[in-house]
Amino acid sequence: MHIPVLLKETVELLNLYSNDSVIDGTVGLGGHAAVILEKTSPDGRLLALDRDPRQIVTAKKNLAKFDKRVVLIHDSFANLAKHAYDQGFTTVAAVLLDLGFSSVHVDDPARGFSFQSEGPLDMKYDPTGELTAADIVNTWSETELARIFLVYGDEKNSRKIARAIVEAREEKKFVTTTDLAQLIEVITPRCGKVHPATKVFQALRIVTNDELGELERALPEIVEVLKPGGRLAIITFHSLEDRIVKAFFRKQENKTLKIINKHVIVPSEEEIKVNPRSRSAKLRVVERLVGTRD
Ligand SMILES: C[S@@+](CC[C@H](N)C(=O)[O-])C[C@H]1O[C@@H](n2cnc3c(N)ncnc32)[C@H](O)[C@@H]1O
Repeated sequence: MHIPVLLKETVELLNLYSNDSVIDGTVGLGGHAAVILEKTSPDGRLLALDRDPRQIVTAKKNLAKFDKRVVLIHDSFANLAKHAYDQGFTTVAAVLLDLGFSSVHVDDPARGFSFQSEGPLDMKYDPTGELTAADIVNTWSETELARIFLVYGDEKNSRKIARAIVEAREEKKFVTTTDLAQLIEVITPRCGKVHPATKVFQALRIVTNDELGELERALPEIVEVLKPGGRLAIITFHSLEDRIVKAFFRKQENKTLKIINKHVIVPSEEEIKVNPRSRSAKLRVVERLVGTRD
């Protein structure tokens, strides 16, 4: 089951009122969305996007009681402004991005996100996307593989793992998650509880979905759709994501944005105990000023 992260803090800082129009750029299973819809009742509207069409199907069921107040669209939040315009969301009071993957991605072996169970080495949120994790592992150069494992996974054995992958694929291409996880386990044995493939899998997921590129493209567009006084909340799970968000907010501070929380908000110890996935979450919130972007 996916438990929404930093739910209370996020909804509180979005500062919602009855009948507000809101956009959830990463609706997932609709956990945050349901509370947003409660807060904006009776007539507030929600435009909800997700890059994974399966999440849209589940969110539709989970949010069914809100009926016509919700518009669900399968697309990346990088195209949020276009959908806001098309759907008549012209005075948007709040936008939420709760980045990364959902527990359903890791729980379903067929999606290829997990090294714990065997599945195709896929890792695409959007099945119509062209690049798979297997394409990266089977075709990218040793140097490029070492770079992404280091930069996006912070993997200290990045070069050793990249070399082993390139040697192994000469014999047989990587097809499944276990093909890759087992090779990594052999060359960098397990120490402690964390599986040695954790960081490489994280790097492959980020690159397969161009997660940082999507975020960078989305931020200026999101600011444009917010009405003056409207708020944007972003929950990140990776230091590089948080760095992009923080740098953008700082650059726009006192031009188009006011920073609401000077210090990043993190989950309480109690939340981490109940939902260990929340431990790396960071929440930043800004408010739209009247000014224009440079
Ligand atoms: C952490 S989950 C969101 C959980 C949600 N807040 C909830 O309460 O159920 C992140 C979601 O973002 C989606 N996602 C990832 N990148 C995206 C993108 N660029 N555009 C839209 N959705 C994206 C994933 O498919 C996943 O469903």
